[in-house]
Amino acid sequence: MQKHIYNPNPEFSKNAAIPSMEAYWELQNRALEDYEGFWQGFADEKIDWLAPYDTVLDESDAPFYKWFTKGKLNVSNQCIDRHLSDKADKTAILFEGDRGEVEKISYLQLSQRVNKMANLLKNEFGIEKGDRVVLYMPMIPEAAYAMLACTRIGAVHSIVFGGFSSAALKDRIEDAQAKIVITADGAYRKGKPYLLKGVVDEALSRGGECVEAVLVVKRNNEEIEWVEGRDHNYNALITAQSDDCPFEPMDSEDPLFLLYTSGSTGKPKGVQHSTAGYILWAQMTTEWVFDVKEDDIFWCTADVGWITGHTYIVYGPLAAGTTTVMFEGVPTYPDAGRAWKMVQDHKITQFYTAPTAIRVLHKMGKDEPENYDLSSLKVLGTVGEPIDPTAWQWYYEKVGHSKCAIVDTWWQTETGGHIITPLPGATPIKPGCATFPLPGIMTEILSYEGVPKEADEPGLLCITKPWPSMLRNIWGDPERYKKAYFGDVSKEGRPVYFSGDGAVADKEGYITIVGRVDDVINVSGHRMGTAEIEAVVKEDDAVAEVAVVGCPHEIKGESIFIYIVLKEGHINKDIKNHINALLASEIGNIAKADHIIEVPGLPKTRSGKIMRRILRSIAKGEAITQDISTLEDPSIVKEIETTAREA
Ligand code: PRX
Repeated sequence: MQKHIYNPNPEFSKNAAIPSMEAYWELQNRALEDYEGFWQGFADEKIDWLAPYDTVLDESDAPFYKWFTKGKLNVSNQCIDRHLSDKADKTAILFEGDRGEVEKISYLQLSQRVNKMANLLKNEFGIEKGDRVVLYMPMIPEAAYAMLACTRIGAVHSIVFGGFSSAALKDRIEDAQAKIVITADGAYRKGKPYLLKGVVDEALSRGGECVEAVLVVKRNNEEIEWVEGRDHNYNALITAQSDDCPFEPMDSEDPLFLLYTSGSTGKPKGVQHSTAGYILWAQMTTEWVFDVKEDDIFWCTADVGWITGHTYIVYGPLAAGTTTVMFEGVPTYPDAGRAWKMVQDHKITQFYTAPTAIRVLHKMGKDEPENYDLSSLKVLGTVGEPIDPTAWQWYYEKVGHSKCAIVDTWWQTETGGHIITPLPGATPIKPGCATFPLPGIMTEILSYEGVPKEADEPGLLCITKPWPSMLRNIWGDPERYKKAYFGDVSKEGRPVYFSGDGAVADKEGYITIVGRVDDVINVSGHRMGTAEIEAVVKEDDAVAEVAVVGCPHEIKGESIFIYIVLKEGHINKDIKNHINALLASEIGNIAKADHIIEVPGLPKTRSGKIMRRILRSIAKGEAITQDISTLEDPSIVKEIETTAREA
């Protein structure tokens, strides 16, 4: 069926950074003709180099690509200092607390606070260039200060999302061998204080011997446990620090941060990003895709614990010199109009969120946007999962008043910034479609043999040329980096980056993301490895076998569906609660399953491989069309279907 096309708003296009498809193709052709020249031009224009680079792209040790080698820069200079001459009084961070209080932090104030935090880390805790710093923080400005303070002194931050459990936190602390953990006593959510620091205490009681100190921001002043000698009060220590901390000149390829994410096998991977390539693309994509202008107020609703929060709350907007909104609460509290009230109150110009959030806001308050003045909005964005037509239409009509482009941005923790997305002033949009790769990005839809797929034929979404903001490594595991990203698909004998996603392009080249083709599921836009969940479920003494699959969910996109086979003689009436409690404690509440069903066996091939495809079909309630005759015990499929139907 021919999809309706939504052309860019001509008024908007007039002043857009990329104002037409002609302008898009002009840029993309430039990259095709002279790839390095293309990137060199932008690196020279955008980055405040402290020392020049000598090579744009070094491919000699592929796939360990290096960009802008020998160049020197500092990300906190790029995001703060260089703006101080003309933006000192401009609001850098507009913070709104859960309870509605607003704080506007100017670029000058941001500079002072980041410098103080950098001095604190350096002088009080001896944090040096290259040291790892784990952040376990709520959504408060101190999280951004800590990130930028790390970049200032060359420390490598690793943020662990506040929803992860103590066990997950401990694993990440140990993998990174962090010297310090920065946290808060807690924060506010839905009008009430909640606690966070106890999770750090528990993580460190289980291990994490590498940690020498815990720095605690007092946010809600609730009573918390205190380990003398190890725990330090940020609020008390920060006042004595000088607000002048010279920034460390960093090499282009020095690691900027680690961010753990789930893969199809094994433990979460510490995705390692670089300094120059990452910040360049964070800034360029903020300017191109959100089209930020001098007076804009940009709001990305993500949490800083995810890549979206890194790139589009902190680094991209600040490098672009815009005002970025940081929100402590949830968009549905005190009611489903909260987000729209914030848009009205702060005259927000770009609003970037996940389809899950759009579905919740739609469900809880379909007409709610009508109660607010949303006329300041210029660009709407989505990220993290495919957006369904109902959510898209509502977002476009009710929130954007049919005048704002929706940029459906496809990218990943590993890509650092946007890869495939509409450009708001240029791209005629087909709803649900991520459209085209950004200029400078070379994507292809290939088979495992590296053969390009025809139009309308689904295949593997690959990025066939290295790009500046790509991950550089998996922390401490270069072999896994090679295998996970460059081990599956080669084109003309050369391994190419495979995203793990399937995609299809139509005859006009519009790319639609089909979803993961590996064993990764996407719950409310959060990535979870089925292997990681299975490993936790197996810890239950009663469980003999387990298989985890994703199942479509109206709000979350996908939910977790677990099949278990109990050990002989084991009867556990409370097994479901027990498994969910285990998942919450080992990973976090986000890993809890919606369905856990006990089955007599799993569908396996004669070689013992679990046929997850069959289990996915059963979870979806679909008829089994696959050939099951090759299974070790074909009759098991009927039994599982019956159990699933009854559950
Ligand atoms: O499957 C794709 C999905 O989210 C995955 C990346 O997850 P993560 O690294 O956690 O980063 C999320 C935020 C960038 C992808 O492999 N995904 C992301 N954006 C989209 C998407 N699926 C469909 N449409 C999108 N716009």
